[in-house]
Amino acid sequence: MEERQNWGSRAGFIMAAVGSAVGLGNIWRFPYIAYENGGGAFLIPYLFALLTAGIPLLILEFSIGQRMRGSAPLAFSRLGKLEWYGWWQVGVAFIIATYYSVIIGWSISYTGFAVFQSWGQDTGSFLYEYLGVTDSWNVSWLGGIQWGVFIPLLVVWLVVFGVLHRGVKRGIEAAGKIFMPLLFLLMILMAIRGLFLDGAMAGLNAFFTPDWSGITNPKTWLAAYGQVFYSLSIAFAIMLTYASYLPKKSDINNNAFITAFADSGFSLISGVAIFSAIGFMATQSGGAVDEYAKSGVGLAFDVFPQILNVMPLGKLVGVLFFISLVFAGLTSLISIVETSVAAVMDKFQLPRRKAVNWAVGLAAFFSLFYATGSGLYILDTVDYFINNYGVALSGLFFAILMGWILNKTEDIRDYNNSISEIKVGRWWNFSIIVLTPSVLGYMALQQLKTDLTTNYGDYPDSLISIGWAAAIGVIVMGFYMQSIRSTNPRFKVEKSGEEEAV
Ligand code: ALA
Repeated sequence: MEERQNWGSRAGFIMAAVGSAVGLGNIWRFPYIAYENGGGAFLIPYLFALLTAGIPLLILEFSIGQRMRGSAPLAFSRLGKLEWYGWWQVGVAFIIATYYSVIIGWSISYTGFAVFQSWGQDTGSFLYEYLGVTDSWNVSWLGGIQWGVFIPLLVVWLVVFGVLHRGVKRGIEAAGKIFMPLLFLLMILMAIRGLFLDGAMAGLNAFFTPDWSGITNPKTWLAAYGQVFYSLSIAFAIMLTYASYLPKKSDINNNAFITAFADSGFSLISGVAIFSAIGFMATQSGGAVDEYAKSGVGLAFDVFPQILNVMPLGKLVGVLFFISLVFAGLTSLISIVETSVAAVMDKFQLPRRKAVNWAVGLAAFFSLFYATGSGLYILDTVDYFINNYGVALSGLFFAILMGWILNKTEDIRDYNNSISEIKVGRWWNFSIIVLTPSVLGYMALQQLKTDLTTNYGDYPDSLISIGWAAAIGVIVMGFYMQSIRSTNPRFKVEKSGEEEAV
């Protein structure tokens, strides 16, 4: 079997982890979620979620990855015959990869459109035409492949393929070292540009002024937890896999703090960039900030082009904005696909190149469904279900598993403290054992109640069943993968050796 690869340096690992964390979620999700949920007042639940769930679980994932030196299925099989749970995490990441790649593809196209502002004045119709969106989702052949989406998607997969083929140090680490500093620079430039726009303050006031009524609303807290989990790439195998390439005895706690704060810092900078631009737009049109504050596809590909149309230096800013989405997205996508690569390598004892061929090949194949005329409907549904029942539920299970079933938190905290620059106190155990399961458990129940009574987005049952199939399918797949025998002796749980000491 190939020798397990390592990061070249601590900085390289941190760049890669930050590269995974900072993604589309920071640029188009955080600013809007913050604005929607109390503006400045959102920062309190957000920081609470970050400190009591995000960072504690990140420390846990780093620790398990580093000590088990294996992919998620291998690590959990050795921890307690829970290989299926590792595959569940990998499955969630795999599904995210299939549509995340498509959004990066759109961003590549829009980088080109930004040069001539080809979207014209009716940016919404332009987007729908570009995507070839069909009237309903279940038309024949899903409305066919949209070649304008297919070609940039192919480029995305070729880049991911090339980077992952080059391996951990020469591929993933090198990509992080190039893209991350550039991305931070671009976003800082855009924030500075935004601050000098006429009306920027109106947007920033709307973004930062606290609305304290939101803080007593459970919805605000749930939004904060959701954002922290998605943004820190927690509970979908990524951080565990990345930490498995760390040499033994590398720092855990401080690396987790650095990664988390870099991620939040970036989110705040993008909030400033986006809301100053929205404030400018509202001032220009004489409308309200509320009219332009949106998230996701609507913000990036409809509202932002409208703003760029009227912004001085709009063409340049547009190119920078969409390149930022591409860079942020690519480094996250690389980490998302690496979870499958590592899992396949471990389970089937394949060389990296073969595992990359399989993982990228399959993910690229499934991504084609979103490159069709019905792609947007499927993407929106699958994203919703996999976030709520993949990422959040898997995080809940993770906390219960480590805090209650395996009851390992105290050993792990001691060990981490012995090798880390920053020592964490008992608040860490409390967060994993009590706080996180309570909040996530409540969240899951509320979510289930909503989704069993109403259809998300008023979509038809046929589409909603695809969402459920994705969320449940990854768990079933986990058990199926566990039932396949591995030739890798490390999958056998024999209670000896240092790594069993967790
Ligand atoms: N953490 C990645 C993001 O925020 C998945 O987009």
